[in-house]
Amino acid sequence: MEEKQSIHGAWASRWIFILAATGSAVGLGNIWKFPYITGENGGGAFVLVYLLCILVVGVPIMMAEVLIGRHARKSPINAMHDVAISSGKSGLWSMVGWMGVLAGFFILSFYSVVAGWVLHYIAGMGVGDYAAISSDDAGKAFEGLLSNPQTLLIWHSVFIVMVMLVIAGGVEKGLENAVKFLMPALFVLLLVMLAYASQTSGFHAGWDFLFHFDPSQLSWESILVAMGHAFFTLSLGMGAIMAYGSYMPKKTAIGTAVITIALMDTVVALVAGLVIFPIVFTNGMDPGAGPGLMFVTLPVAFGQMPSGQIFGFVFFLLVGIAAWTSAISLLEPAAAWLVEKFGWHRIPACIVLGLIIWSIGIAALGSFNVIADVKLFGFTVFDFLDFITANIMLPLGGLFIALFTGWMVKRQISEDELAFSANAWYRAWYITIRYITPVAVAIIFVFNLLDTLK
Ligand code: TRP
Repeated sequence: MEEKQSIHGAWASRWIFILAATGSAVGLGNIWKFPYITGENGGGAFVLVYLLCILVVGVPIMMAEVLIGRHARKSPINAMHDVAISSGKSGLWSMVGWMGVLAGFFILSFYSVVAGWVLHYIAGMGVGDYAAISSDDAGKAFEGLLSNPQTLLIWHSVFIVMVMLVIAGGVEKGLENAVKFLMPALFVLLLVMLAYASQTSGFHAGWDFLFHFDPSQLSWESILVAMGHAFFTLSLGMGAIMAYGSYMPKKTAIGTAVITIALMDTVVALVAGLVIFPIVFTNGMDPGAGPGLMFVTLPVAFGQMPSGQIFGFVFFLLVGIAAWTSAISLLEPAAAWLVEKFGWHRIPACIVLGLIIWSIGIAALGSFNVIADVKLFGFTVFDFLDFITANIMLPLGGLFIALFTGWMVKRQISEDELAFSANAWYRAWYITIRYITPVAVAIIFVFNLLDTLK
């Protein structure tokens, strides 16, 4: 078979692909979202379901996304189309790519708001706003931020522009350095925080909260949230990883790359939890505090540490960079499609996309102040965007990708891309993606539905 190339470029090596995909996976999902939804869903049992979902649903689907992307060497919409056609199936499978583009818009618009909070905290730490802050005052500082739409709008806009700049330049350039140096730095700083947290009186309570399995804490809703988060944290179900896979060198083994990425992502989330919950319990705070959890706990810890303001500044800076390297992967599928479809340059493509997302984001940030009373299905706009993407659109996209790769794509294509056909690993993946993954996703969906109808 002749070797296809993507018109958008290619990662220089196997490691760059792994770093880029890790940059996409590790983001606010790990450091902001994982701890707070674990807190809201009762801890250990939720964590266990989440880990199972990473293994049974996340890893096989990530392999599927990468193999489709790499085989087609096009943006997700066109990749789904082309692989369907060359397998003798309907081109309508490109609809999965379309739903992914929409999910990417929705996610990025609230993601950018939260990234804006991070930018605000970088600035605040930089000027020492949170020195020796009490937990009460940390809560008030965060609420003060949420009640101020102008400040939120400025930071949201700054972040969208940052994302547009990278997409305009093409993902190869800036991304490489950001990920090669800054992600390891983030990890080291998390370990410093872990060392601090392990000295606090609440460390055991924090540890127990994360790892003590108490099945009475589980509901179908919390299982759905755990599965949705497995998709969210690994950047699956909307084509981000498919797009990154389309720039992947042909010789790289997909299976080991995917396992490396999933492992790094999981470790970062668990360490973040082990940093935040001890601080929560040491200071008598509420683990179920919601989206503000990281923003009220960490300033308190930094306020008590020697040189805490400097650590705090660097820490929030690195979280901001992690959010940045994730956010660009949310926009890349749509940008690549515009370039393929209309032959546009990347710059107009990212201006159009940036404006769309910026506008939706304004509604999301208004959820905390001016339009706090506007409810969609009982959710604020912000919560609605989060809920329908993570818990519905991504798992649904993932379900279709699993069914597509397991049942529609010619076996020769998946064997060729995964290149371990002679081996038991391929069969294990094949059985998982055909039966286990779709059944698991479907069961969680159906039982939730029955539960809400009750
Ligand atoms: N995985 C990122 C995080 O945990 C967010 C993200 C980036 C994402 N790209 C995605 C989520 C694609 C879903 C789909 O912060």
